Amino acid sequence: MAAVVCAFGGLAAPAVVAEEPYDGHIQCETEGDPKTCRIDLWLTRGYRAFSQCQVCHGLDGTGSTIGPSLLEKLGGEIGRARFMEVVANGYQGQIGVMPPWKENPNVMRYVDQLYAYLKARADKVLPAGKIKRYDR
Ligand code: HEC
Repeated sequence: MAAVVCAFGGLAAPAVVAEEPYDGHIQCETEGDPKTCRIDLWLTRGYRAFSQCQVCHGLDGTGSTIGPSLLEKLGGEIGRARFMEVVANGYQGQIGVMPPWKENPNVMRYVDQLYAYLKARADKVLPAGKIKRYDR
């Protein structure tokens, strides 16, 4: 979820800890209501990169007949390291072929943003579809 405030029994000053890759890139009018959220340019680049994945993983990332749900994958089935490995190098699995993207700058330049965007979707802090910017 969003940044968490930790106070250790008054011994230490409260500290804000960035826990998720999208922390600091999402602003919501109503906390806990994804429909009221806006994102910055950084995260928008992740959303744009996701357009390369939709043909197999579904318009909203929840999967199709030819590719698994990326929201379930990032919701706990795989971690960041596996995501980065698979996106760069691809693999052949039971379902089919996940293509490698390491030659595609539209994906690789923004792979951190792409991971953050999909993690936010998996964590249900962002809705499907195009999201407005708050930083312009
Ligand atoms: C041409 C179709 C296709 C496209 C386009 C595609 N994928 Fe995949 N992807 C697959 C298939 C098929 C699998 C499942 C392979 C298997 O396990 O059999 C997969 C699996 C994955 C996995 C799961 C890895 C794991 O260890 O379980 C991730 C993460 C993933 N894709 C990310 C992406 C991202 C991010 C993009 C866009 C940059 C993308 N894919 C684009 C077909 C595609």
